[in-house]
Amino acid sequence: MAGLISQSFIDELLIRTDIVEVIDPRVQLKKAGREYTACCPFHNEKTPSFTVSQAKQFYHCFGCGAHGSAIGFLMEYDHLNFPEAVEELAQMNGLEVPRDAGPAPDPKAKARQATLYDLMAQSDRYYRQQLRQHPQAARAVNYLKQRGLSGEIAATFGLGFAPPGWDNLLKALANDKEKCKQLTSGGMLIEKDEGGHYDRFRDRIMFPIRDQRGRTIAFGGRILGDDKPKYLNSPETPLFHKGRELYGLFEMRQALRKIDRIMVVEGYMDVVTLAQFNIHYAVATLGTATTPDHLSRLFRVTPEIIFCFDGDRAGRDAAWRALDNALPILKEGHELRFLFLPDGEDPDTLVRKEGKAGFEARLDLATPLSRYFFGQLSNQLDLSSPEGRARLAKTAQAYLSRLPKGLFKQMMVNELATLTQMESSAIEATLNTEPKQAPPVRGKTKSTQRKLQKNHSLVPTPVRRGVMSLLQEPKLALLVESGNIPANPEIPGLDFFGEVIGVIHKNPQIEIATLYSRLEGSRYYHHLKRLSGQEQLLKGNLLEHEFKGILDSIKKLASNKSMDEQMEILFAKPPSQLTNEEKEMVRRYFTSKSLY
Ligand code: GTP
Ligand code: MN
Repeated sequence: MAGLISQSFIDELLIRTDIVEVIDPRVQLKKAGREYTACCPFHNEKTPSFTVSQAKQFYHCFGCGAHGSAIGFLMEYDHLNFPEAVEELAQMNGLEVPRDAGPAPDPKAKARQATLYDLMAQSDRYYRQQLRQHPQAARAVNYLKQRGLSGEIAATFGLGFAPPGWDNLLKALANDKEKCKQLTSGGMLIEKDEGGHYDRFRDRIMFPIRDQRGRTIAFGGRILGDDKPKYLNSPETPLFHKGRELYGLFEMRQALRKIDRIMVVEGYMDVVTLAQFNIHYAVATLGTATTPDHLSRLFRVTPEIIFCFDGDRAGRDAAWRALDNALPILKEGHELRFLFLPDGEDPDTLVRKEGKAGFEARLDLATPLSRYFFGQLSNQLDLSSPEGRARLAKTAQAYLSRLPKGLFKQMMVNELATLTQMESSAIEATLNTEPKQAPPVRGKTKSTQRKLQKNHSLVPTPVRRGVMSLLQEPKLALLVESGNIPANPEIPGLDFFGEVIGVIHKNPQIEIATLYSRLEGSRYYHHLKRLSGQEQLLKGNLLEHEFKGILDSIKKLASNKSMDEQMEILFAKPPSQLTNEEKEMVRRYFTSKSLY
């Protein structure tokens, strides 16, 4: 159904994706109990009826009936087609869409991933064990002590020791070919040109990198002395994507119940030392610039992020890059500040000198984004001259265009207006009216309005109602014996109905979101969306009863008689004796010959 993109890849993608992370940067969500809500981006409304369920990985609007999975949302909101939406999600996850994957799903892929997680956990255990038992463990322990780390904090962060030698991990864990292959794909072993493998991490202090669920997915390894490279990180692997993961996020969530702010620092050691000094809200990027993906993940946890940089040139460059990456996701309610440390210091050294209170006093004085932004831009300019002000307006405008619409953008525009002695409206006029990926939420075009109205006048034919029932309660498909729905190309959508039943038969435990995602690639998807939610479907036994009736109608319809013959039979009956389904069939016969 998904063309060249394999279903197993799409499944994998949806497992990795959090729909809240997909929707929130586009439509600001509010937490409401176990779900998230917002004013629906697909129709005009004043009170929120758009709901996102994190548990079900599903969105639904109680107002207009729009619903679907993360893929469906991207298709609708960003106006993408199915492959483009998959591509977008894959990029967010740092994955490559396997273009030439055959249509056959790969049931082994999941098993392989499970094994890889397991092997990473075993590696993690192995390194921690070596820190206690290896004949040279004392060297490692002494190094950690000399860096001032307590045994307790080393344990909290799961620090370990990769002993010297080329094949320690290899011998300990890779006792068959398959494991060797897996450990190589997980970045723990490296394949030699002439064949054979060796350990990637040798004679290093090991920092396990854990995902949000606490599973070890990668490592950073520090050399014990002054050799190069100082740090060695896992490469990108099926489990680990640098642009997405943050070191210390899992540990922060373990330590703190309420997270008021998060500090982004540069090094592993900084995160660990800060935690030892009871500052548990630091994370580090993993040798990359902060990505929008990192930031939206963090803003989901806290409203305030403080970037902490070295005061040197490299630190300043990194800060501007971070700001640049943050623009597309900055909204009111988000606070982003910048802290520059004195030359030659990093958070690790500074917190040791100044303690928690001293360090936090600096944090409180961190520069707000707006001040940093306008400060940097007007640095070399003379704002007392019209030329200087015009120059500022021009450079700032390119950046401000990239802010999502909203109060924050408005405030930045006002600030620029003050600095340049211009009218806010004049500045606004020069900004792109629509940010790239954000179609207007309000002020719908006429054609959308029309489409929405049309939604409500779709005739609920038996096939349509059958499909909708299945989408509400997939298990109903089990009431249909396989092959029990005769094919009849004259009935539009009937093949699709059979397809839905087939998907559920293959996987009776299928979740609604997964089912939906499978249908999103179908040529019927757009019709499906128009249908969804337009009638309040029944629940439980009633739904089952209803579904049986729908099945009967469909079977009747699908039996060998042509549509016209069927209609003749129906016309022959007195209208009062027609069932509701039959009435619908007649109505539909008149209103349109094309159902889907
Ligand atoms: P310490 O010297 O142990 O205090 O390390 P640090 O955390 O202060 O490191 P530094 O500020 O030099 O670097 C910050 C981060 O950049 C590290 O935590 C690593 O993620 C990364 N990094 C530093 N040096 C290297 C290197 O040689 N190779 C790679 N790949 N990454 C490095
Ligand atoms: Mn350091």
